[in-house]
Amino acid sequence: MKILVIHGPNLNMLGKRDKGIYGDKTLAETDSSLKKQGEALKVEVVTFQSNSEGTLIDFIQEKSDSADGIIINPGALTHYGLSLRDALTDTRLPVIEVHLSNIYAREEWRAESVIAPIAKGQVSGLGWRGYLAALESLVAEIKGEDVGL
Ligand code: DQA
Repeated sequence: MKILVIHGPNLNMLGKRDKGIYGDKTLAETDSSLKKQGEALKVEVVTFQSNSEGTLIDFIQEKSDSADGIIINPGALTHYGLSLRDALTDTRLPVIEVHLSNIYAREEWRAESVIAPIAKGQVSGLGWRGYLAALESLVAEIKGEDVGL
């Protein structure tokens, strides 16, 4: 199984960018945690970041045929990235949207996501752990696992 983890604009600045909001882990550290969790779950995790919507779309179009699901933090494209949304829809893959910060507890314009309606679900406000929660949940969902609780 292969999961694409995609980070949008400005997320390459994690670790330097407003740490009070986004935490102090860098993107490389976050991706490394995701890859380790992928190993534990026995799935391949492919990570990618771009500051440009077109480059994100090119990546999605190129890689989605060989992938089983997508985790994406679209950055500010969350709020207006309709081409990104169309590209995600076209993959027909399950998508989980992740935000480090709680987008509902910040400026009003951040509370609208154009990605959410086409996503399976959203994790918002759990910091870097939100990515790990999304990965665990997405893999279990794709495998059709029942935790037996
Ligand atoms: C973000 C929230 C967005 O509103 C913002 O533009 C980002 C990061 C988050 O992870 O909390 O770049 O997606």
